[in-house]
Amino acid sequence: MSDKTGIVTLVGAGPGDPDLLTLGAARALSRADVVVYDNLVCPEILEFAAGAEMIDVGKLPFGKQTAQETISSILIREGSLGRNVVRLKGGDPFIFGRGTEEIEALHRAGVPFRVIPGVTSLNGVLGAAGVALTTRGRNRGFAVFSGAGATDKTEFRQWAEYPGPVVVYMGVNRAADIADEFIHAGRASDEPVVVVARGGTPREAIAETSLGELAALLANPADWTPAIIVIGAAREHAFSARPLDGSVAVFNAGSLDSIAADELRALGARPARAVKREPTHPFAREVAVHKEAHK
Ligand SMILES: C[S@@+](CC[C@H](N)C(=O)[O-])C[C@H]1O[C@@H](n2cnc3c(N)ncnc32)[C@H](O)[C@@H]1O
Repeated sequence: MSDKTGIVTLVGAGPGDPDLLTLGAARALSRADVVVYDNLVCPEILEFAAGAEMIDVGKLPFGKQTAQETISSILIREGSLGRNVVRLKGGDPFIFGRGTEEIEALHRAGVPFRVIPGVTSLNGVLGAAGVALTTRGRNRGFAVFSGAGATDKTEFRQWAEYPGPVVVYMGVNRAADIADEFIHAGRASDEPVVVVARGGTPREAIAETSLGELAALLANPADWTPAIIVIGAAREHAFSARPLDGSVAVFNAGSLDSIAADELRALGARPARAVKREPTHPFAREVAVHKEAHK
């Protein structure tokens, strides 16, 4: 135990693409003594904390799990040692991020904390894929729910009643139940659905489908995790009509932040660096061709 108590900063890292990291997050990372991070954080983002000790408490959907109590006790231990701790979480800490449990635990232990919100998947991932969740004259709102945790599938029906697009976090494993219940509640089976998996990462995959075909598309959940799903919205035509829509342009290291890369982005391509990662990382594997998932 140190005489001086440190500070724990809960930082939202955004959904993957380092361009979606906030300036506050980059500053906090650059001052960190220790970074406690999740698996939904892209490796490039950790480079902002060069020199800090890294503690991986990643919770893979199909892999190793670190109990929430263990994570909270690591934060309390590190803060009590007088260290400047960054708790780096995918997206935003308070949107399906268990931020509440962590600040409650810190508060109970008397460890000072602060929060830097992050870009959440619903705007970071869907926006980058060309899905506008509101459009003047078309709709004035949208609903959001988590597909995980529902014991009774009829719970999904209440979301189907929302008169506009419905965004689903953590819905890949329950896609068949969700689609069934939405159709049961009166939504048309040809209603458009967009699925974006691993958005903003080298393994991004985008699919445009319908409620009736959603379960078949996601029949192998491991191929589509993590993904954000939106029911009742489509990619904007202006996006999908761009000549390089859906293609990946492989760049050499260091050249993604350039006018040449921006020109490709404006044509609809996704410039990416071919990087090697731990094969167990969910954003691992070389840049893949996503055209087949991208109608
Ligand atoms: C435990 S929640 C964390 C949400 C996060 N706090 C946020 O604000 O985006 C995990 C879910 O977020 C969504 N998600 C997170 N990162 C994503 C990404 N890069 N692409 C698509 N969906 C993502 C998926 O629905 C995933 O199952």
